[in-house]
Amino acid sequence: MIVTIDGPAGAGKSSIAKRVAQRLGFEFLDTGALYRAVTLGAIRAQIDFQDVDALVQYAKQVNLRWDGQRVFLNGDDVSDEIRSPTVTDAIRFVADVPEVRHQLSRLQREIAVGRDIVTEGRDQGSEVFPRAECKIFLTASAQERARRRQRQLAVAGRPMLIEQILRAQERRDEEARSRPVGGVRPADDARVIESDCMTCEQVLEDARRIVEEVRSRDERPGPRQAADTTWTGGDSGTMAWCHRGSDPGRPSCRTPDPTLQKLVDLIVQPVDQPAHRILNALRRPERVPETGQRQQG
Ligand code: DC
Repeated sequence: MIVTIDGPAGAGKSSIAKRVAQRLGFEFLDTGALYRAVTLGAIRAQIDFQDVDALVQYAKQVNLRWDGQRVFLNGDDVSDEIRSPTVTDAIRFVADVPEVRHQLSRLQREIAVGRDIVTEGRDQGSEVFPRAECKIFLTASAQERARRRQRQLAVAGRPMLIEQILRAQERRDEEARSRPVGGVRPADDARVIESDCMTCEQVLEDARRIVEEVRSRDERPGPRQAADTTWTGGDSGTMAWCHRGSDPGRPSCRTPDPTLQKLVDLIVQPVDQPAHRILNALRRPERVPETGQRQQG
């Protein structure tokens, strides 16, 4: 199962996503860390950030690995170094290049194959995993995010005026909104958590409840399957089905057979094909639709 958590900077996505993953026993993917690692690699390789072709070539050949906890760049554990201000300041040169995003989105999808994962970023529900089973958009007002940042800085021994923090944050929000690619936006079918008047525990509980709702909805046998199924076929062990989820234009595609699911995930995510077509293509010729309406492809 894929749970996406997106939202603006300072909304608390990282800590909530990590804790949601922990509670559910899922893995956690910090996609910002991948952008940071490519940026660090480009700095180390002394690539000119204005040279888009060189950045794209670099992103295509760099060896990035995520082991469920740490990020490795060409075999080096860079999980701490990627947090440096030098990397933070340079990320936009890398993250604004569509081909680089394409490479990293592909990597993120590959990482997610066959895993139960909570993935956190800006574009996870809207771009990278449009068919994720559960999408959350976590947000808070500019004032609240600035107040939280002020508290964090104070704890770190770096007190700052709220006005200063707000100004910097507004600049970052504006940059994030106006980015040509990878801008922050909720997916149409994301559940929004507006966390202004909520404690961290309450946000966590809300997120966990949303995931559990989706999980039990997807696992519920019988009537829902019959109502939502557009096509069903196959043997009992490898039966695959497409269901419409909350967005009728985007059927998602689940099968209990892990091997078939891997194949389906790989094909369905990148090419944006209607799921029933993929399943029709994978289906053995002797299989016939068993229940539900067959949808015209
Ligand atoms: O979450 P973070 O601050 O570590 O992310 C670092 C940068 O990476 C952030 O400035 C935006 C970019 N990013 C992105 O463009 N797309 C993502 N999915 C995640 C992060």
